[in-house]
Amino acid sequence: MSAQKAYEELIKRAREVSLLVSCEEVLGWDERTYMPRGGAAHRADQLGLLSGLAHEKFVDPRVGELLGKLEQSDLVKDAESAEAVNVREIRYQYNKRTKLPKELVEEITRVTTLAQGEWVVARKNSDFKHFLPWLEKVMALQKDKADAYGYEGEPYNALLDDYEPGATVDEIAEVFTNLRKELVVLLGKIKDAPKKPDASIVTRDYGVDLQRIFGESVAASFGYSFTDGRLDITTHPFCIGIGPGDTRITTRYNPKRINDALFGTMHEAGHGLYEMGINKKEHFGTPMGASVSLGIHESQSRMWENQVGRSRAFWVYFLPQAQRIFKESLSDVKLDDFYGAINDVKPSHIRVEADEATYNLHILLRFELERPLLTGDLKPADVPGEWNSRFKNYFGIDVDKDANGCLQDVHWSAGYVGYFPTYTLGNLYAAQFFAKAQKDLPDMTAQFEGGQFAGLRNWLLENIHQHGQRYRANKLVERVTGKPLSYKPLIDYMTAKFGEIYGF
Ligand code: CO
Repeated sequence: MSAQKAYEELIKRAREVSLLVSCEEVLGWDERTYMPRGGAAHRADQLGLLSGLAHEKFVDPRVGELLGKLEQSDLVKDAESAEAVNVREIRYQYNKRTKLPKELVEEITRVTTLAQGEWVVARKNSDFKHFLPWLEKVMALQKDKADAYGYEGEPYNALLDDYEPGATVDEIAEVFTNLRKELVVLLGKIKDAPKKPDASIVTRDYGVDLQRIFGESVAASFGYSFTDGRLDITTHPFCIGIGPGDTRITTRYNPKRINDALFGTMHEAGHGLYEMGINKKEHFGTPMGASVSLGIHESQSRMWENQVGRSRAFWVYFLPQAQRIFKESLSDVKLDDFYGAINDVKPSHIRVEADEATYNLHILLRFELERPLLTGDLKPADVPGEWNSRFKNYFGIDVDKDANGCLQDVHWSAGYVGYFPTYTLGNLYAAQFFAKAQKDLPDMTAQFEGGQFAGLRNWLLENIHQHGQRYRANKLVERVTGKPLSYKPLIDYMTAKFGEIYGF
C-alpha cells in the first residue's frame, strides 16, 4: 500500500469519526435549546450510542497501523504540510485515547455524574463537609488518569494537556505568578482611585426584543454570518461549530441589565468567528480543520468581548446606535460615562460575575490549589481554609460562606481538573495577539470608531484561523507575535484602560 493510499484511508476514517461527533453536537445543541425536558433520557441514549461508536472507530488498531506506516513515509517530511500536521495530531489523540483503560473512563463518568448531583446539594446549603468525600474521590481518579497518561514533572501536566495540548505547568506557572502580583497592584490603584464610574447606567430597563436586535447587529458587524450561523437563547451561553457552514451561538437576556446578553453575544460571536474562519470546506474532520486549544479559542472570544467590545473606540460608533434603540434608558448618557459603566471594577466572590480586572485572580487562585491537590501537598479537607486565606490576600475581602468560595464552580465535581488555566491563557493570548494586530494595523482604532471590524477579522483569519492545528498554542503565539507567552501585554492593556477610566 502506498503512503498516499494509507493517508487517504486515515483521513476517511478521521472524517467519519468527526461526522459522528458533529451528529452528537447537533443533538447536544438541540438538548440545550429546544428539546422538551421529557426527552432527556432518550437523548442520553442517543448521545451515548454515538460517542461509543466514535470512540471505537477512533481507537481501531487499523488507525495505529496507518499512522505507523505514514510516520515512516516522505509524505510527512515537511512538518508544516497539511499531511504532516494531520498525522502528528491524529497520532497524538490516538495515543491519549488508547492509554486510558476502559474501566477508569467508566469509573470517572460514574463518580462525576454522582459528584455533580452532590455538589449541587452542597453548594445550595453551603456545606463543604457534604462535598468533601466526593472531592476526594474525584481528585484520586484524576490522579489515576494522570498516571495512565504518563507525565514528566508533576501530574498536573497530564491533565492540563487534555485542554491545552502541549502546555506545561513550568511554562505557565511563572507567567501566572507575575500576572497575579501585577493584578493585585492594579486592583489597589483602582480601589484608591479619585474617579469612580457610575455603574447604574447598565441596570436600567433594556427590553429583551431590543437587546436581541442590537446584539445581532453587533455580531453581524464583527463578521459573524447569520447565513452560516444563528443565535438562540440558553441559560448557559455557548458556541458550537457543527461543521462547514454551520456555527451556532446562544445567549441569555436580562431586561434589567444590558451587560449579560450584549457582552455574552460578543464573546460567543468571537468563538463563532474562529469556527467560521477555519477552512472546514477543505479540512473538515481533520486536525487542519479544527481549533488549536481551549486557550486559543478563548482568546478569540475575549478579544471581541473586551479589547473590541469594551473599548472606547467601539462605543464612539455604537453608542449613538444604542441610543436610537434604547431611547429611554440611554438618551441622557455621555460616551465616557457609558464607557466607564461597562468597565466598572468591583472585587466580588463569584468568578462568573467578575469584571475584566478581577477575573484572572479567580482563575489563578484555582490553579494554585489544583496543583498541590494532585501532588497530595494539599488535602481536600484543607481546601476551604486555603481558598479563603488566598482570597483575602488577593481581593481584600473575606469569604462569607463556602457557597461563595470553594463550592461555587461545577468544574471539580465534573472532573474538569486542568481546565481553569485555559481561561487565563485565553486572556493572555488575546492581549498579546491584539497588541500585535494594533502594530500591524495602525489605523485599527479609527476603523473601530467607524464601525469597521474587517481589518481585525482578516488579520485573525490570516494569522490564526486558517492554520487549524498547524501550530500548537505556544508556537502560534511566538510565530504571530514574535515573543513567547508573557503577562506584560495584558497588564499594559489593563493599566492603560483602567488608568484612563479611574484617573490614575
Ligand atoms: Co468562552
